[in-house]
Amino acid sequence: MFQHYIYDASSKQEIFSEELLELTKGLNKIVEDSKTPLEGNLFYLNHRRRQTLVNGNTTIPDAVYTTKRANFANLIKQKNFIVEIGFNAGHSALFALTVNPQIRYFGIDIARYPYTKSCATYLQNKFGNRFECQFGDSMKVFPLYALRNLLESDLIHIDGGHSIEMFTIDICHAIMLPNSSGIDRHILVDDAKSKPILEKIRELEKLGYVMVVKDFVKWEGEGNLLLKVC
Ligand SMILES: C[S@@+](CC[C@H](N)C(=O)[O-])C[C@H]1O[C@@H](n2cnc3c(N)ncnc32)[C@H](O)[C@@H]1O
Repeated sequence: MFQHYIYDASSKQEIFSEELLELTKGLNKIVEDSKTPLEGNLFYLNHRRRQTLVNGNTTIPDAVYTTKRANFANLIKQKNFIVEIGFNAGHSALFALTVNPQIRYFGIDIARYPYTKSCATYLQNKFGNRFECQFGDSMKVFPLYALRNLLESDLIHIDGGHSIEMFTIDICHAIMLPNSSGIDRHILVDDAKSKPILEKIRELEKLGYVMVVKDFVKWEGEGNLLLKVC
């Protein structure tokens, strides 16, 4: 099967398909046209930490997130339906939808940046009914859609508001999502280097709600963290 992304662990080199890079440029052009610097994401450092702003000619993702991307890609290949809190400009959404041509994607974003809705329209046009995004505060949007749209989700990526309060709300919603059909459900935590977030995860682990897993798929580094919902 054709692969849009290949990662060689020994050299830490990544290869991206031409198609993936072209679609990435499309998102980046929308960001450039919005005249709003890009928030950090799975592909690029936050604009404050980058030497140049991401624009319509930017393609290759920043090397600093290589292992996070490799983990994400390995995981995505095993999953059927990802719910992502924090769509931003859609780079992780695009990555998921190309790396796994079967996966469905449901994004939630408060759309605080003017590029967010246009990037979602761009992906909607490319991926049709495999893609959906709802806008608003995840605190309200997740429970609103949970019982109708999200029950089949086998992966919830928490990458929205990074305060400990927002993280706690998002992870509690993810844990409480009903699972009567016994789906093998995981939670991917983006901000896994934050001390308060790690402490919250330990607390939830002690209570028996989640379990940190390192062997579900090949996993490198500590940039992101995978939890199994118990
Ligand atoms: C780090 S970015 C997500 C990056 C994206 N997952 C990627 O890798 O391409 C975080 C996003 O979360 C959104 N966000 C922040 N607080 C939120 C909230 N309370 N509800 C929903 N989205 C929120 C922001 O608007 C921003 O677009």
